[in-house]
Amino acid sequence: MTRQALIIDCDPGVDDAVALMLAFGSSELDLLAVTAVGGNVPVEKTARNARMLRQIAGRLDVPVFMGADRPLRREPAGAGEFHGAEGLGDMTPFEPDAPCAEGHAADAIIELVMGRPEESVAVAVLGPLTNLALALRKEPRLAGRLGPVAIMGGARSEGGNITASAEFNIWADPEAAAEVLATGCDAVLFGLDATHQVRATEARIAALEAAGTPMADAAASMMRFSQRVERRIVGWPSLSEWGPPVHDPCPVAWLLRPDLFQLKPCRIAVETESELTRGHTAVEFRPSVAGSLPHRWAVSADAEGIFALIAGAVRPRRTI
Ligand code: BDR
Ligand code: CA
Repeated sequence: MTRQALIIDCDPGVDDAVALMLAFGSSELDLLAVTAVGGNVPVEKTARNARMLRQIAGRLDVPVFMGADRPLRREPAGAGEFHGAEGLGDMTPFEPDAPCAEGHAADAIIELVMGRPEESVAVAVLGPLTNLALALRKEPRLAGRLGPVAIMGGARSEGGNITASAEFNIWADPEAAAEVLATGCDAVLFGLDATHQVRATEARIAALEAAGTPMADAAASMMRFSQRVERRIVGWPSLSEWGPPVHDPCPVAWLLRPDLFQLKPCRIAVETESELTRGHTAVEFRPSVAGSLPHRWAVSADAEGIFALIAGAVRPRRTI
Protein backbone atom coordinates (compact mmCIF):
# COMPACT_ATOMS: atom_id res chain seq x y z
CA MET A 1 0.00 0.00 0.00
CA THR A 2 1.36 3.47 -0.84
CA ARG A 3 1.53 5.76 2.10
CA GLN A 4 -0.14 9.17 1.82
CA ALA A 5 2.54 11.86 1.67
CA LEU A 6 1.59 14.68 4.04
CA ILE A 7 2.73 18.07 5.29
CA ILE A 8 1.15 19.31 8.52
CA ASP A 9 1.00 23.09 8.89
CA CYS A 10 0.05 23.95 12.47
CA ASP A 11 0.23 26.24 15.50
CA PRO A 12 0.50 23.89 18.52
CA GLY A 13 -1.81 24.43 20.40
CA VAL A 14 -3.31 21.68 22.54
CA ASP A 15 -5.47 20.16 19.81
CA ASP A 16 -2.70 20.55 17.21
CA ALA A 17 -0.62 18.45 19.62
CA VAL A 18 -3.18 15.64 19.53
CA ALA A 19 -3.27 15.84 15.73
CA LEU A 20 0.53 15.60 15.60
CA MET A 21 0.50 12.55 17.88
CA LEU A 22 -2.07 10.94 15.58
CA ALA A 23 0.13 11.61 12.54
CA PHE A 24 3.43 10.69 14.21
CA GLY A 25 1.94 7.34 15.26
CA SER A 26 0.27 6.45 11.95
CA SER A 27 2.47 4.35 9.66
CA GLU A 28 -0.05 4.84 6.80
CA LEU A 29 1.21 8.42 6.50
CA ASP A 30 4.50 9.51 4.98
CA LEU A 31 4.93 12.65 7.07
CA LEU A 32 7.25 14.83 4.99
CA ALA A 33 7.38 17.84 7.31
CA VAL A 34 5.69 19.80 10.02
CA THR A 35 5.52 23.53 9.33
CA ALA A 36 4.76 25.99 12.10
CA VAL A 37 2.80 29.23 11.89
CA GLY A 38 2.06 31.96 14.43
CA GLY A 39 -1.48 31.47 15.70
CA ASN A 40 -2.47 30.21 19.11
CA VAL A 41 0.88 31.49 20.41
CA PRO A 42 3.78 33.22 18.57
CA VAL A 43 5.61 31.21 15.94
CA GLU A 44 8.79 30.77 17.98
CA LYS A 45 6.66 28.90 20.51
CA THR A 46 4.60 26.91 17.98
CA ALA A 47 7.82 25.78 16.27
CA ARG A 48 9.39 24.84 19.60
CA ASN A 49 6.21 23.01 20.63
CA ALA A 50 6.21 21.05 17.37
CA ARG A 51 9.82 20.05 18.05
CA MET A 52 8.97 19.05 21.64
CA LEU A 53 6.11 16.85 20.43
CA ARG A 54 8.29 15.35 17.71
CA GLN A 55 10.84 14.41 20.34
CA ILE A 56 8.22 12.89 22.67
CA ALA A 57 6.98 10.80 19.72
CA GLY A 58 10.52 9.76 18.78
CA ARG A 59 10.07 11.09 15.23
CA LEU A 60 13.27 13.12 14.74
CA ASP A 61 13.15 11.94 11.12
CA VAL A 62 10.38 14.51 10.45
CA PRO A 63 11.75 18.02 9.81
CA VAL A 64 10.08 21.02 11.47
CA PHE A 65 10.16 24.34 9.60
CA MET A 66 9.32 27.72 11.10
CA GLY A 67 6.99 29.95 9.09
CA ALA A 68 5.05 33.21 9.28
CA ASP A 69 5.18 35.18 12.49
CA ARG A 70 2.14 37.29 11.58
CA PRO A 71 -0.96 37.20 9.39
CA LEU A 72 -0.84 38.71 5.88
CA ARG A 73 -2.49 42.00 6.87
CA ARG A 74 -3.74 41.75 10.47
CA GLU A 75 -2.08 42.04 13.83
CA PRO A 76 -1.25 38.66 15.40
CA ALA A 77 -4.10 37.66 17.72
CA GLY A 78 -3.29 34.58 19.81
CA ALA A 79 -5.51 32.18 21.73
CA GLY A 80 -3.35 31.63 24.81
CA GLU A 81 -6.40 31.52 27.06
CA PHE A 82 -7.45 28.25 25.39
CA HIS A 83 -3.96 26.74 25.05
CA GLY A 84 -1.91 28.18 27.94
CA ALA A 85 0.74 30.89 27.69
CA GLU A 86 3.25 28.45 26.15
CA GLY A 87 0.69 26.75 23.91
CA LEU A 88 0.71 23.21 25.30
CA GLY A 89 -1.52 23.56 28.33
CA ASP A 90 0.10 22.24 31.50
CA MET A 91 3.11 20.70 29.76
CA THR A 92 6.33 22.30 30.99
CA PRO A 93 8.27 23.59 28.00
CA PHE A 94 11.78 22.26 27.36
CA GLU A 95 14.34 23.05 24.71
CA PRO A 96 14.21 20.10 22.30
CA ASP A 97 17.41 18.33 21.22
CA ALA A 98 16.98 19.03 17.52
CA PRO A 99 16.56 22.49 15.96
CA CYS A 100 14.23 23.65 13.19
CA ALA A 101 15.26 22.75 9.66
CA GLU A 102 16.80 25.56 7.61
CA GLY A 103 14.46 27.71 5.56
CA HIS A 104 10.98 29.20 5.71
CA ALA A 105 7.91 26.97 5.98
CA ALA A 106 6.41 28.43 2.78
CA ASP A 107 9.54 27.51 0.80
CA ALA A 108 9.54 24.03 2.31
CA ILE A 109 5.91 23.51 1.22
CA ILE A 110 6.76 24.64 -2.33
CA GLU A 111 9.83 22.43 -2.56
CA LEU A 112 8.19 19.32 -1.10
CA VAL A 113 5.07 19.58 -3.28
CA MET A 114 6.70 20.70 -6.55
CA GLY A 115 9.37 18.01 -6.29
CA ARG A 116 6.83 15.17 -6.15
CA PRO A 117 4.20 13.81 -8.55
CA GLU A 118 1.15 15.99 -9.15
CA GLU A 119 -1.55 15.76 -6.46
CA SER A 120 0.47 13.24 -4.45
CA VAL A 121 1.16 15.45 -1.40
CA ALA A 122 -1.67 16.34 0.96
CA VAL A 123 -1.46 19.34 3.27
CA ALA A 124 -3.31 19.43 6.59
CA VAL A 125 -3.66 23.02 7.77
CA LEU A 126 -4.43 23.23 11.49
CA GLY A 127 -3.77 26.92 12.11
CA PRO A 128 -4.19 30.26 10.30
CA LEU A 129 -3.58 29.75 6.57
CA THR A 130 -0.71 32.25 6.30
CA ASN A 131 2.06 29.80 5.36
CA LEU A 132 0.07 28.18 2.57
CA ALA A 133 -1.08 31.58 1.24
CA LEU A 134 2.54 32.77 1.14
CA ALA A 135 3.59 29.60 -0.69
CA LEU A 136 0.80 30.03 -3.26
CA ARG A 137 1.73 33.68 -3.81
CA LYS A 138 5.34 32.72 -4.43
CA GLU A 139 4.60 29.69 -6.61
CA PRO A 140 1.12 29.95 -8.21
CA ARG A 141 1.59 26.58 -9.97
CA LEU A 142 1.41 25.02 -6.52
CA ALA A 143 -2.44 25.14 -6.55
CA GLY A 144 -2.59 22.62 -9.40
CA ARG A 145 0.09 20.39 -7.88
CA LEU A 146 -1.33 20.03 -4.38
CA GLY A 147 -3.21 16.95 -3.31
CA PRO A 148 -6.09 17.47 -0.91
CA VAL A 149 -5.77 20.51 1.36
CA ALA A 150 -7.53 19.42 4.54
CA ILE A 151 -8.18 22.48 6.66
CA MET A 152 -9.42 22.79 10.22
CA GLY A 153 -11.35 26.00 9.93
CA GLY A 154 -14.65 27.70 9.39
CA ALA A 155 -17.99 28.23 11.04
CA ARG A 156 -21.51 27.88 9.70
CA SER A 157 -24.46 26.21 11.46
CA GLU A 158 -22.67 25.97 14.81
CA GLY A 159 -21.77 29.67 14.90
CA GLY A 160 -18.26 30.81 15.76
CA ASN A 161 -15.82 30.24 18.62
CA ILE A 162 -13.91 33.54 18.51
CA THR A 163 -16.82 35.74 17.45
CA ALA A 164 -20.47 34.92 16.84
CA SER A 165 -19.67 34.38 13.15
CA ALA A 166 -16.15 33.06 12.91
CA GLU A 167 -13.85 30.23 13.85
CA PHE A 168 -10.36 31.15 15.12
CA ASN A 169 -8.11 29.87 12.30
CA ILE A 170 -10.05 31.67 9.57
CA TRP A 171 -10.67 34.77 11.70
CA ALA A 172 -6.97 35.11 12.61
CA ASP A 173 -5.92 35.52 8.96
CA PRO A 174 -9.04 35.88 6.82
CA GLU A 175 -7.12 37.24 3.83
CA ALA A 176 -4.90 34.15 3.77
CA ALA A 177 -7.91 31.83 3.94
CA ALA A 178 -9.69 33.78 1.18
CA GLU A 179 -6.61 33.65 -1.05
CA VAL A 180 -6.06 29.92 -0.56
CA LEU A 181 -9.70 29.06 -1.28
CA ALA A 182 -9.80 31.31 -4.36
CA THR A 183 -6.94 29.37 -5.98
CA GLY A 184 -9.34 26.48 -6.60
CA CYS A 185 -7.17 23.97 -4.78
CA ASP A 186 -8.88 20.81 -3.54
CA ALA A 187 -9.87 22.30 -0.18
CA VAL A 188 -11.79 20.27 2.40
CA LEU A 189 -12.90 22.30 5.39
CA PHE A 190 -13.44 20.74 8.79
CA GLY A 191 -15.23 23.60 10.50
CA LEU A 192 -16.98 23.75 13.84
CA ASP A 193 -20.09 22.06 12.41
CA ALA A 194 -18.06 18.84 12.30
CA THR A 195 -15.39 19.35 14.98
CA HIS A 196 -17.95 20.17 17.69
CA GLN A 197 -19.11 16.58 17.27
CA VAL A 198 -15.65 15.33 18.32
CA ARG A 199 -15.51 15.74 22.07
CA ALA A 200 -13.03 14.49 24.63
CA THR A 201 -15.44 12.88 27.06
CA GLU A 202 -14.21 11.67 30.44
CA ALA A 203 -14.19 8.04 29.22
CA ARG A 204 -12.13 8.89 26.11
CA ILE A 205 -9.52 10.82 28.10
CA ALA A 206 -9.32 8.08 30.72
CA ALA A 207 -8.73 5.47 27.99
CA LEU A 208 -5.74 7.45 26.73
CA GLU A 209 -4.38 7.87 30.26
CA ALA A 210 -4.57 4.11 30.72
CA ALA A 211 -2.40 3.49 27.63
CA GLY A 212 0.61 4.78 29.55
CA THR A 213 2.95 5.73 26.68
CA PRO A 214 4.63 9.17 26.46
CA MET A 215 2.52 9.93 23.36
CA ALA A 216 -0.70 8.91 25.07
CA ASP A 217 0.19 10.89 28.20
CA ALA A 218 0.90 13.98 26.11
CA ALA A 219 -2.40 13.67 24.20
CA ALA A 220 -4.38 13.08 27.38
CA SER A 221 -2.77 16.01 29.19
CA MET A 222 -3.83 18.33 26.34
CA MET A 223 -7.43 17.13 26.67
CA ARG A 224 -7.44 17.48 30.47
CA PHE A 225 -6.27 21.08 30.08
CA SER A 226 -9.01 21.80 27.51
CA GLN A 227 -11.58 20.15 29.72
CA ARG A 228 -10.87 22.69 32.49
CA VAL A 229 -10.35 25.75 30.32
CA GLU A 230 -13.22 25.31 27.87
CA ARG A 231 -15.64 24.60 30.68
CA ARG A 232 -14.63 27.82 32.44
CA ILE A 233 -14.50 30.07 29.36
CA VAL A 234 -17.32 28.64 27.28
CA GLY A 235 -19.45 27.67 30.25
CA TRP A 236 -20.55 24.13 29.45
CA PRO A 237 -22.66 21.85 31.67
CA SER A 238 -21.53 18.96 33.83
CA LEU A 239 -18.59 16.86 32.70
CA SER A 240 -20.59 13.65 32.55
CA GLU A 241 -22.59 15.10 29.65
CA TRP A 242 -19.88 17.03 27.98
CA GLY A 243 -16.25 17.18 26.79
CA PRO A 244 -14.17 19.84 25.04
CA PRO A 245 -14.05 19.73 21.22
CA VAL A 246 -10.84 18.30 19.77
CA HIS A 247 -10.72 20.12 16.44
CA ASP A 248 -7.34 19.62 14.80
CA PRO A 249 -7.12 15.81 14.57
CA CYS A 250 -10.10 15.86 12.15
CA PRO A 251 -8.22 16.67 8.91
CA VAL A 252 -5.54 14.08 9.74
CA ALA A 253 -8.18 11.50 10.66
CA TRP A 254 -9.96 12.14 7.35
CA LEU A 255 -6.77 11.42 5.40
CA LEU A 256 -6.48 8.13 7.27
CA ARG A 257 -10.18 7.17 7.30
CA PRO A 258 -12.35 9.25 4.95
CA ASP A 259 -15.32 7.06 5.83
CA LEU A 260 -15.45 8.68 9.29
CA PHE A 261 -16.72 11.95 7.81
CA GLN A 262 -19.60 13.12 5.67
CA LEU A 263 -18.61 15.87 3.21
CA LYS A 264 -20.74 18.06 0.96
CA PRO A 265 -19.47 19.68 -2.26
CA CYS A 266 -19.73 23.47 -2.15
CA ARG A 267 -17.99 26.76 -2.82
CA ILE A 268 -16.61 28.63 0.17
CA ALA A 269 -15.84 32.35 0.42
CA VAL A 270 -14.40 34.18 3.42
CA GLU A 271 -15.60 37.53 4.77
CA THR A 272 -12.70 39.98 4.89
CA GLU A 273 -14.41 43.40 4.85
CA SER A 274 -16.83 43.49 7.77
CA GLU A 275 -15.39 43.65 11.31
CA LEU A 276 -18.63 42.18 12.69
CA THR A 277 -18.45 39.02 10.58
CA ARG A 278 -14.69 38.96 9.82
CA GLY A 279 -13.57 35.44 8.98
CA HIS A 280 -17.06 34.02 8.48
CA THR A 281 -17.12 31.18 5.96
CA ALA A 282 -19.99 31.61 3.50
CA VAL A 283 -20.70 28.10 2.24
CA GLU A 284 -22.69 27.83 -1.00
CA PHE A 285 -24.23 24.40 -1.54
CA ARG A 286 -26.65 25.21 -4.37
CA PRO A 287 -25.11 23.53 -7.45
CA SER A 288 -26.46 26.12 -9.87
CA VAL A 289 -24.53 28.93 -8.16
CA ALA A 290 -21.69 27.04 -6.50
CA GLY A 291 -19.59 27.43 -9.66
CA SER A 292 -16.50 25.45 -10.42
CA LEU A 293 -14.49 25.74 -7.20
CA PRO A 294 -13.98 22.21 -5.90
CA HIS A 295 -14.50 22.82 -2.18
CA ARG A 296 -15.97 20.42 0.32
CA TRP A 297 -17.48 21.10 3.74
CA ALA A 298 -17.58 18.50 6.51
CA VAL A 299 -21.06 18.13 7.93
CA SER A 300 -20.50 15.21 10.28
CA ALA A 301 -17.74 13.31 12.02
CA ASP A 302 -17.68 9.92 13.73
CA ALA A 303 -16.18 10.83 17.09
CA GLU A 304 -15.91 7.24 18.31
CA GLY A 305 -13.97 6.28 15.19
CA ILE A 306 -11.66 9.30 15.46
CA PHE A 307 -10.83 8.60 19.10
CA ALA A 308 -10.17 4.96 18.23
CA LEU A 309 -7.66 6.14 15.60
CA ILE A 310 -5.94 8.41 18.13
CA ALA A 311 -5.81 5.62 20.71
CA GLY A 312 -4.33 3.27 18.09
CA ALA A 313 -1.64 5.78 17.14
CA VAL A 314 -0.41 6.42 20.69
CA ARG A 315 -0.70 2.89 22.10
CA PRO A 316 2.39 0.90 23.16
CA ARG A 317 4.34 -0.37 20.14
CA ARG A 318 4.84 -4.10 19.80
CA THR A 319 8.49 -5.09 19.73
CA ILE A 320 9.54 -8.04 17.60
C1 BDR B 1 -8.83 26.10 16.05
O1 BDR B 1 -8.30 27.27 16.67
C2 BDR B 1 -7.18 26.93 17.43
O2 BDR B 1 -7.22 27.62 18.66
C3 BDR B 1 -7.21 25.43 17.59
O3 BDR B 1 -5.87 24.94 17.66
C4 BDR B 1 -7.87 24.98 16.32
O4 BDR B 1 -6.95 24.88 15.27
C5 BDR B 1 -10.23 25.88 16.55
O5 BDR B 1 -11.03 26.99 16.26
CA1 CA C 1 -4.56 24.82 15.65
